[in-house]
Amino acid sequence: MSVSILSGLQLDWPVDWSVLFERPAPLLLEIGFGRGDFLVELAQKQPLANVVGLEISLPSLRKGARKVSRRGLTNVAIVQADANYALHALFRPASLSEVYINFPDPWPKPGHEHRRLINPYFLRLLASRMPAEARLNIATDHPDYAAAIVTCLETTPYFVSRRGQTAVVAHGLLGTKYEQKGLAEGRPGYYFYFERNQTPLAFPFPVLKESAMPHVVLESPLTLAEIADQFRPDSVTVGETAVSLIELFHSAQQNKLLIEAYVKEAALSQHIAAAIRCRQNGQLVVELHDIGFPRPTVGTHHLIRFIVDWLSSLHADTTVVNSTLAGDK
Ligand SMILES: C[S@@+](CC[C@H](N)C(=O)[O-])C[C@H]1O[C@@H](n2cnc3c(N)ncnc32)[C@H](O)[C@@H]1O
Repeated sequence: MSVSILSGLQLDWPVDWSVLFERPAPLLLEIGFGRGDFLVELAQKQPLANVVGLEISLPSLRKGARKVSRRGLTNVAIVQADANYALHALFRPASLSEVYINFPDPWPKPGHEHRRLINPYFLRLLASRMPAEARLNIATDHPDYAAAIVTCLETTPYFVSRRGQTAVVAHGLLGTKYEQKGLAEGRPGYYFYFERNQTPLAFPFPVLKESAMPHVVLESPLTLAEIADQFRPDSVTVGETAVSLIELFHSAQQNKLLIEAYVKEAALSQHIAAAIRCRQNGQLVVELHDIGFPRPTVGTHHLIRFIVDWLSSLHADTTVVNSTLAGDK
């Protein structure tokens, strides 16, 4: 049996994991499983649990999927997704029984600390997805990162130690690749064994929601060729969303323009395309194209509005006939 890699961007928000695994069971999550040995061992040791492994690296995803397939495990899902996005979109509040984060990237260079996964915001997000007594296990071999994790865990109102101490310093408890690498270079591991307490969250992090598909119909004297001629890369920030228009492609055959775009929101970054097409009656339609499998979020509404505003600025007689954009109905 070969196990497929699930694309986190194409899964439901939230995923019904008991349907995906075809059984209800406690849900365990490993973030950044790397070579996947710990993940498969976890799934083997806990056959009554559903185990999700998250990764962003394609070689690691392939390795993980191969290992799961070889062992014939049916209680593991290999998901390609960034942890921040996955926690916002794929997991219901209080749905995770146990979370493992083994040797997350340490980002050791000065000035790169903000790229580290574990910080107070991420702990709050994790706390939102874990019921009381759910376990959080973290390990690192990087002393600076360990010190930062100590501060996060000692100041968070949402987790308490299961060991009466913040960190356990030890040599080789997990056997993962990066633990071994640290040991070979003379660094012990710092292991954190915590659990969610009863404190409710001040901000609950509702699961990400899809918006209506953004779609605007315009009356305009502009032709596609005129629009294409005037395109310049541009960007705008609206609230927490950054929209960048990168490049425009003109398909003469299909009477359509494609605009390559980035839409970056707090929990999700999308590299997608917007289309401007000309109907037979001369109206222009501005909408998302299928390229990049866009999810219709608030940010994609900002993208379409940015393009509509730009088209309106090109010709004063451009008017909106119909719009599904938030705020237009
Ligand atoms: C240093 S490696 C550790 C791998 C493994 N856990 C181990 O102990 O050997 C960190 C792993 O986390 C993955 N990763 C980094 N950022 C991530 C994110 N935001 N979401 C999911 N995985 C991530 C990387 O691709 C990499 O495989």
